[in-house]
Amino acid sequence: MVRAEPTRSEPLADRASPFAGRVRRNFARGAALYEREARLQRAVAWRLARHCRDLAIPAGPCADLGAGTGLLAGAIERLRPELRLLRVDNCPPLLAQGAPDSACLPWDLNGGLPPQLGGAALLGSSFALQWLEQPERQLEHWGGQLRPGGWLALAVPTAASFSQWRAAAAAAAVPFTGLALPEAEPIERAAARHLEIRVCRRLRFSRPAPSALGFLGQIKAIGAQASRSPRLRPAELRRLEAAWPNVTGNRLEWEVLLLLGRRPGAA
Ligand SMILES: C[S@@+](CC[C@H](N)C(=O)[O-])C[C@H]1O[C@@H](n2cnc3c(N)ncnc32)[C@H](O)[C@@H]1O
Repeated sequence: MVRAEPTRSEPLADRASPFAGRVRRNFARGAALYEREARLQRAVAWRLARHCRDLAIPAGPCADLGAGTGLLAGAIERLRPELRLLRVDNCPPLLAQGAPDSACLPWDLNGGLPPQLGGAALLGSSFALQWLEQPERQLEHWGGQLRPGGWLALAVPTAASFSQWRAAAAAAAVPFTGLALPEAEPIERAAARHLEIRVCRRLRFSRPAPSALGFLGQIKAIGAQASRSPRLRPAELRRLEAAWPNVTGNRLEWEVLLLLGRRPGAA
């Protein structure tokens, strides 16, 4: 990892909200296993990257926002060898798992984009926007920072995900403790404030999830378990586990919003 010059001097932890700090610590603990376990994220990163293969991207800074180990940046660079994407993320241990010669910037995106991405030519982000405090506001800010002719390539899981988990929680009379994911429509509207939308699709992915504990363990393995809800007590977990197979059919579904937009104007 080649660290880009940080433009603020205070440590990340001092600025982070308590929730953002928890998100960062969890991802740090899961960093070593992330690349091996994050199969859905890898598949979505490649799908988004393929949408970028033939775009006319102007000259200018390119970045993967909430890059983690750089799955999206790496996929885009494989398909567009002339591009180099800055990996921006507030979890240095995840950045450190990425390609050794890639440029990285530890940065909390809750505070907006780093100054070196003003006038960006390509801003990509996959499976990261949902972790920010104000996803719509940040997305609108990203769109506004693109140069004319610049592109936003976004994938984000939406609130329509995990209906089976919600149903199992309801059947077990326990709270749903997953992360509150953003609704697709406000995200689409926020993107459209600065951009001409070229692709806007809500994709559904389904994965085997034979047990509640197994599924929660998988999320934890990649450090993605932070939620604003209190954790279930052991008796509640047992009830969820008992309701899970009948209600979920042993599968869970994600809805992922895939969006490509261009900042109007001549490149
Ligand atoms: C599920 S991972 C996705 C990583 C990568 N984009 C991928 O598709 O594999 C979510 C990423 O968002 C990052 N993230 C969460 N909150 C962030 C914040 N406030 N600022 C910067 N990055 C953040 C995490 O550190 C983590 O790398």
